[in-house]
Amino acid sequence: MFHPICRQIFLFSLGMFLFVAVQSVAAQEDRAAEGKNLYELRCVTCHGIKAEKLAGKPTDYLEDRMQSFKEMDDPLFEKVRRMQAALAPLSDEQLKHIAIYLNGLK
Ligand code: HEC
Repeated sequence: MFHPICRQIFLFSLGMFLFVAVQSVAAQEDRAAEGKNLYELRCVTCHGIKAEKLAGKPTDYLEDRMQSFKEMDDPLFEKVRRMQAALAPLSDEQLKHIAIYLNGLK
């Protein structure tokens, strides 16, 4: 049906596609796993193990909210000040990983 060369190219492309797809699923799982660790270490005391208010929210929204809390000047409430302290040492990348984890929670 196919010219053998075409078939080889086709199979090679399919292989590459599957390889990349599996890699990116695995990478996404790694990010979520790192996010889970960070969340359980730094956020769980206030937001709870199920993160009711945060679970399943869009990652962009979560990242946005974390950034604005992080950058807030002199927050009025003690709890928000403490949340800032929890966010302060985390990089943008780490915040993204937490957001990916929370987004995946139901
Ligand atoms: C000392 C308590 C405390 C800690 C620790 C804490 N937070 Fe919060 N967080 C709050 C409070 C209080 C609010 C504002 C009120 C609310 O939405 O519950 C809030 C709000 C948020 C919001 C915005 C929710 C929304 O929909 O507007 C996000 C996202 C969030 N926290 C993520 C985190 C992450 C991620 C961590 C860990 C790095 C963390 N928080 C650690 C107390 C805390």
